[in-house]
Amino acid sequence: MASRLSGKWVLITGASSGFGAAAARAFAAEGCRLLLGARRAQRIEAVAAECRKLGAPEALAHVVDVGNTASVNAFAEWSKSIVSASAAESGRAIQTLINNAGGAHGAEQVTQARDEDWEAMVQSNLLGVLRMCRAFVPLIQAPGGSIINIGSIAGRIAYEGGAAYCAVKAGELQITRALRMELLGTGIRVGTLDPGLAETEFALVRFKGDGDKAKNVYKGMTPLSGEDIAETLVFMASRPPHVCIDEVLILPTDQATPGKVFRRN
Ligand SMILES: NC(=O)c1ccc[n+]([C@@H]2O[C@H](COP(=O)([O-])OP(=O)(O)OC[C@H]3O[C@@H](n4cnc5c(N)ncnc54)[C@H](OP(=O)(O)O)[C@@H]3O)[C@@H](O)[C@H]2O)c1
Repeated sequence: MASRLSGKWVLITGASSGFGAAAARAFAAEGCRLLLGARRAQRIEAVAAECRKLGAPEALAHVVDVGNTASVNAFAEWSKSIVSASAAESGRAIQTLINNAGGAHGAEQVTQARDEDWEAMVQSNLLGVLRMCRAFVPLIQAPGGSIINIGSIAGRIAYEGGAAYCAVKAGELQITRALRMELLGTGIRVGTLDPGLAETEFALVRFKGDGDKAKNVYKGMTPLSGEDIAETLVFMASRPPHVCIDEVLILPTDQATPGKVFRRN
């Protein structure tokens, strides 16, 4: 049976690595058309090329910094110019928007943390989601489209050294809930997918390129992979139009809370 998503436009931010790149590949395998955004041009171009090989009829990349309003608005204008050619009605041609761009910067306690890390986390994880939703809601299929934001278990349970990251992901959860209410009646679904420990470039970014510290995060346990998240995203996006998966918390079996992780010796 043909995928319900086949031929549909799916837009993913943070598609240059981790969950976003894995999601791009998974939606490509469903036959989706893809718009991919991130800051590293070469990396998103490479992911787009891979997606075309995997079966995406179209896969296009555009540089975007979700931490900058002008950049997000330019991304929306570019996206509109591409999808409007295939829009049946009023330019609303994007079936699924995945707000995935973000991450953690630093793991210091509040008394030791740095302004630039806090600001980077607020800009990408919190304001980035708001800016993307403001710019792209008019381009999302109504009824039948979906917005899926990537949160975290950190948005549900706090941990030491994660105050700002937990705060922005808790903010993402509340943005998702508010937008769900604001879009009620349009037929646009809004949901959040909140993962626990997953091995991507996340820890490397958090620890500013320190590979040993990053590896330690996953020591002795089996983390989630980008593919685990990607297949859940495909499931969420491919429900029938009357079904909205509002909130998903997905953890490795070895993790019960942010700080409660089973590690083998
Ligand atoms: N891995 C985990 O354990 C975990 C758990 C829960 C939630 N999450 C969340 O999952 C999402 C994806 O993270 P990941 O694990 O896949 O990490 P990752 O491999 O580091 O990917 C992060 C992606 O976000 C993009 N990005 C970061 N800041 C951006 C900005 N200002 N503008 C545009 N793109 C930006 C990066 O691309 P560029 O650098 O090229 O811009 C990259 O593609 C994040 O929101 C993260 O907070 C991760």
